[in-house]
Amino acid sequence: MPRRPAAGSPAARRLLASMTLPEKLGQLTMVGADWHADGPRLGPVARRAIEGGRAGSILGLWGREAVTDAQSLAREAQHGIGLLIGFDVLHGHRTIGPVPLAEAGAFDPELWAETARLAAAEAAADGVNLTFAPMLDVARDPRWGRMVEGSGEDPWTARAFAAAKIVGFQGQRLGWPGSVAATAKHFVAYGAVRAGRDYASADPSERELAEVYLPPFEEAVRAGAAAVMPAFIDVAGLPMTANKKLLRTILRDTWHFKGVIISDYKAIPELIAHGVASDLVDAAALALQAGVDIDMLGEAYERGLPEAIERGLVDMALVDQAVMRVLSLKEQLGLLAEPLRLPSPPPASESREIALRAACGSMVLLKDDTRLLPLRADHRIAVIGPLADDRLALTGPWAAAVRPDETASIAQALSSAFPNVVAPPASHDVEAALTAIRTADLTVLCLGETAEMSGEAASRADPGLPADQRALAEAVLAAGRPVVVVILCGRPLVAPWLFDAASTVLLAWFPGTMGGEAVARILSGAEDASGRLAVTWPRAVGQIPIFFGDRPSGRPSDPADRMTSRYLDCPVSPQFAFGHGLSRASAQLRALRIAPEGFRADGALRVEVDLVNESDIPGSTTVFIFLRDLVASVARPALMLCGARRCPLERHDRKTMVFELEASCFSLLGADLARRREPGEFEIVAGFSAAELCLRTQVTLSPEDLA
Ligand code: BGC
Repeated sequence: MPRRPAAGSPAARRLLASMTLPEKLGQLTMVGADWHADGPRLGPVARRAIEGGRAGSILGLWGREAVTDAQSLAREAQHGIGLLIGFDVLHGHRTIGPVPLAEAGAFDPELWAETARLAAAEAAADGVNLTFAPMLDVARDPRWGRMVEGSGEDPWTARAFAAAKIVGFQGQRLGWPGSVAATAKHFVAYGAVRAGRDYASADPSERELAEVYLPPFEEAVRAGAAAVMPAFIDVAGLPMTANKKLLRTILRDTWHFKGVIISDYKAIPELIAHGVASDLVDAAALALQAGVDIDMLGEAYERGLPEAIERGLVDMALVDQAVMRVLSLKEQLGLLAEPLRLPSPPPASESREIALRAACGSMVLLKDDTRLLPLRADHRIAVIGPLADDRLALTGPWAAAVRPDETASIAQALSSAFPNVVAPPASHDVEAALTAIRTADLTVLCLGETAEMSGEAASRADPGLPADQRALAEAVLAAGRPVVVVILCGRPLVAPWLFDAASTVLLAWFPGTMGGEAVARILSGAEDASGRLAVTWPRAVGQIPIFFGDRPSGRPSDPADRMTSRYLDCPVSPQFAFGHGLSRASAQLRALRIAPEGFRADGALRVEVDLVNESDIPGSTTVFIFLRDLVASVARPALMLCGARRCPLERHDRKTMVFELEASCFSLLGADLARRREPGEFEIVAGFSAAELCLRTQVTLSPEDLA
C-alpha cells in the first residue's frame, strides 16, 4: 500500500494537515442538486452536508443564484473551501451544438475546440467549474445509445477530438477565465459493452484495448485533462471503479495522470452488484485502493471509509493523497482562497452563430440522386412528419440547461426561410400527410429518433425507425412526388428500405439549438452540407459491429466466392461508409505526394494532396488519409486513418493540403503487445471516404529510418 506523503502546494498541505477525517471524506464526496421546473437548486440534504463540511462537490447545479448560494455556504463552513460544481456539458450549455457524434463528422479540430470554448464560457457564467466531458469512448455498435456522446468508431478521430475538446473546455490553463475543468470519460472500453447493451460487461482483447480504446484517453491526459471518470462497466471481469491495473498502473503510473479520478454516478456502491464487494465498506476500500478520488453520489466514502480505515483495509495515506488531488484541483480553479467571481456569458448572437456553423458543418447529405437540392424559393413546400415540430429532438439527449423557446423547429425555420410553406400539425397520420403533399411541389419529411431514444440507458436491439414512422414514410415515398427526407438521430439507423425508396436524404443528427435554421440553410442552398460520417452506417443489425478498420482476414470478402468472409443473406458492405457525405461542390484529388525529406528524425512523415473544385459551386470537401501496413509481424487493419480534414473550396479552386502523419502511425504493437517499428512498405491512400479511395502511393520504412 503506497505510503508516499501527499504532494501539493504548501497552502494545500497546511489545509490538509488541519482537517479531521470527516472533513477529508467530505472533500471526496459529491452530492446532488435537486431539480425544479425552473432549474436546479440545493436541497436540504445537500445544504446540510455542505454546511457540515461533508460535501466538497455538487452534481447538476447551475445558475448564478443557486451556485452563489452553494459556494457561500461552503465558504462559511470550517476551512472555507469552495465547491466543485460539476455538470454534464456535453455539447453546449444553454446554446446547444450538434451532438459529438455529429460534430466529429465536421473533421475540424478548430471547430471542435471552439464549440467546447463556447460551452465552457456559458457554463462558467452559470457557475459550473467542472464538466463531465468529453466522452471519449470509441463506439462501433449503433445498438449502444451512448454512441451519440462520442466521436464515433475511429481511434485517430477520437484522439484528435479529445485534444481539441480538452483545450477548448479548459482554455490555456485550469482556472482560465470562462473555462471549466474537463473530465475524460468513461475510462475505458465502455463502447465495447456486450451486444450494445448499456452498462453490460465488456471484454475487449488486450490488443483491442491498447489499439482502440485507450489511445483517446492517453491523448486527453497529454492535453492536460483535469479529471478522468471510470466507466460503470467491468472490463474482462474487473469493474473499472475498482480496476487497479487500468487506473493505477496505466493511468497514473504509465501516463503520469496527476488529476482527479471521479467515480460515475453511484458506481462505488454498484461494486456490490458487480459481485466484487461484500458491502459498502468493502466497496469504498476497493475504489480508493484503485485510485478513485471522488465518490459521485454513492455515499460510500462517507459511510464506508471510516470503518475501512479501522479494519485496516485502507491506509490513511491513500485518503490524504486523494484529498490532496482534490485540493490541488480546487487551488488551480481558484476555489481555495479567491472570492467567487462568475464571468459574464458570451453574447447570445455569438453563441448562436457558432452553433449554426457547427450544425451546418455536421449535417451529412447522405443521398441526392435526383438533385432536389437546393430547393426553389418559388416552390410550395409541405413540411411533415412526427419530428417536424419537435424542438427537443433537435437539441438531443444532453441538453439540461437548454431553453427550448430559443430553438426553432424545422417547420418553423423552413417557414421563415421559404415564402410558401405548409406545415400541418406534426403527426404520423398517413391520410393527413398524403393530403398535404398533394397540394405541394415538394415535401420535407422529418423522421428519426426523439431525444430520449438515444443516450444513456437507451440501447436499442433494433435501431431503425419506429414502425409508425416507417408506415408513414412508405406511403409518402410511394406517392411518387419529390420528397426530401430529413433524419434526426443519435446513431446510424438501420433502414435499408428508406435508402432504397428515398432519393434525397439529409442526416441532421441531433443538431442543437440552431438545427432548424441549419436545415433551412442547407435545403435553400445558402450553405453546403459539409458533414461526413464519423461512423460506418450498417444496412442490417446482423452486420454490427461494423467499422472500416477491421483486419482483412485470410479470406477477404469476395462476392463471387462463397468461401470468403461474407454473409449469405446480406452484403458485407455498409449502407454508407465511414467518411461518406455528399457536397454540391465537386472536388477531385489530383496528386498525392510524400515530402522529399521522407521520414523525419522524429519518425513523422509529411504528405501533400492537391485538390481542385471542378464546379462553379463554392463549398468544402473532406480529405481522408489512410494507411496500410502491407506486411507486418501481426495482421494490421485493412485501413488505418492517420489524417482527415475539411477544406473549404471556392468555385474552381485549387488547393494543396498538407498532412503530418505522426510517428505512431508507423508503429505497431507486436505479438507481445510492446510498441515497435518494423521496416517495410506502407501504402498511403487519399480519399473522400473509406469506400472512395482515390490516390495511392508507397513509402518504405528502412532499417536506417529506424536507427
Ligand atoms: C453518466 C455519466 C454522467 C453522470 C453524471 C452518469 O449516469 O454515466 O456520463 O457524467 O451520470 O450526470
